[in-house]
Amino acid sequence: MNAKFIPYQISELRGKELLKKSEEHLKKMESRRSVREFSAEAIPMEVIENIIMSASTAPSGANIQPWTFCVVTNPEIKSQIRIEAEKEEYENYHGRMPQEWLDDLSYLGTDWHKPFLEIAPALIIVFKHSYELINGQKKNNYYANESVGIACGFLMEAFHECGLVALTHTPSPMNFLSKILDRPINEKPYLLIPIGYPAKEVLVPDIKRKKKEEVIVCYE
Ligand SMILES: Cc1cc2nc3c(=O)[nH]c(=O)nc-3n(C[C@H](O)[C@H](O)[C@H](O)COP(=O)(O)O)c2cc1C
Repeated sequence: MNAKFIPYQISELRGKELLKKSEEHLKKMESRRSVREFSAEAIPMEVIENIIMSASTAPSGANIQPWTFCVVTNPEIKSQIRIEAEKEEYENYHGRMPQEWLDDLSYLGTDWHKPFLEIAPALIIVFKHSYELINGQKKNNYYANESVGIACGFLMEAFHECGLVALTHTPSPMNFLSKILDRPINEKPYLLIPIGYPAKEVLVPDIKRKKKEEVIVCYE
């Protein structure tokens, strides 16, 4: 056994303070929306890095941290990504997605055109490591899918906290991202996330979120 422990402390809240904090956090999170129209205004790389490193504090199976976050601001690479994403999305919207799926997406008003992939100042491409290659040997990772999903949740929350917007985009299949970004074979594209400031007077779909009673089951 090689377990080693260090002291740990957080600023604990109780009573009214705790309730107020949780209410404020809920209010803040309720105002998060996916945005599909971006301003071209640049975001400092240091800010993006801080946000990604916040995401990288996420819990992960056996603390493997099975993720890579690629940040693309280069206009030529963004254009290549847009071209390949639109090829896949054209197929998705013209036969690859069944009618039921298209109907379920109709509230978004989206189609195969993805101009935001060039307009947004940065694209973050999250890669999941299902396994690591150590001296050419495959070592499987534990709960890679769950771990990367949680890290992406942290990422989205951090952008929102900083007053920036993002879109979890999945122009599937996304293998083109591995090729364009020349990623190693053990990394699989997980999400393509344009980030930035919203375009002026941006509109978002009028969605409803589930109520407390539909989401929570208490066993007291
Ligand atoms: C895994 C995942 C994949 C998604 N893929 C897309 C996508 O490819 N294109 C898109 O416009 N939105 C995509 N979305 C965003 C959802 O449409 C959006 O989260 C949902 O409509 C709720 O809206 P909100 O994020 O504003 O609350 C995706 C979201 C998730 C979590």
